[in-house]
Amino acid sequence: MTDRERLERAREAATGAYAPYSAFAVGALVVGGSGREYLGTNVENAAFPASICAEANAISTAVAAGERRIEAVYVVCLRRRRCMPCGNCRQIMREFGVDRVVVEGPDGPETIPFAELLPRSFGPEDLSDP
Ligand code: THU
Repeated sequence: MTDRERLERAREAATGAYAPYSAFAVGALVVGGSGREYLGTNVENAAFPASICAEANAISTAVAAGERRIEAVYVVCLRRRRCMPCGNCRQIMREFGVDRVVVEGPDGPETIPFAELLPRSFGPEDLSDP
């Protein structure tokens, strides 16, 4: 599947978002280490901090299916073109070794290496003694 097609699937997923408070629908498609793809949308909550982002939901679904590494994350927002993942989602991506994030740029899919999104980050290996 091409980057464009994956972004299109993420866009379709965004139409299922539960975002009554922000009206900001987000869809994500993640590619697991196995090559299988998983979708997620944001799911908000009347207690706002309990809301869950699209990327976090897609990654949770992938992990529940047995994935332990995530290759790529595709993100689409219905209200604007380029939709960058929030800081919390970047940290969740870090746990599973995400290689790249793909968003919709003005001229089509825009690929961002993960290291640019969360440089000098904290990850699983940092819990062990040096
Ligand atoms: N949101 C996501 O789903 N992913 C992000 O990376 C940024 C923000 C959601 C959370 C909330 O439901 C809405 O977008 C507005 O912040």
